[in-house]
Amino acid sequence: MNRIAVYPGSFDPVTLGHINIIQRGAALFDRLIVAVAVNLEKQTLFPEEDRLRLLRKSVETLPNVEVDRLDGLLVDYVQRVKAGVVLRGVRAVSDFDYEFQMAAMNRRLARQVETVFLMADESAAFISSRLIKEVAAMGGDATPFVPSHVGPELAARVALKNGGRNR
Ligand code: PNS
Repeated sequence: MNRIAVYPGSFDPVTLGHINIIQRGAALFDRLIVAVAVNLEKQTLFPEEDRLRLLRKSVETLPNVEVDRLDGLLVDYVQRVKAGVVLRGVRAVSDFDYEFQMAAMNRRLARQVETVFLMADESAAFISSRLIKEVAAMGGDATPFVPSHVGPELAARVALKNGGRNR
């Protein structure tokens, strides 16, 4: 059986928490498609092309992982690529409400699409894109929480946004 899973997210930017879920997901499924949402309600720090590029570089050594853009409804995408599973990572209880709502809505929209959750590895349970952006924006060192090629780009992006403050 060819088990295909879709791991969707904003990836703004990709963190070591995401990488951990991707590595474990790649071991569980035959093919893992990391789907970068491009039409988000929220404003992103990184434009779509950068979020895709940084992810592609992060997964280049994983042969059964690919990166694609997600435009529109997740369940439509999942069915279009003939995947049966949405993969998500959960950290603390605080993630549960949001994840439960999304999984339930997706299930209502497409009964045959299952959401599978992986618990965040304890080493990455506190890492979120939101927090690492905040740390970087306030002059802290966010490099331990992101792939090595992401660190310099994160610093450059927040500097651009800050107009040179906190450097
Ligand atoms: O990394 P995030 O921001 O938690 O990811 C959220 C994401 C991209 C998974 C969610 O916004 C999504 O699925 N967007 C695609 C549009 C969609 O299907 N929305 C309804 C979800 S119930």
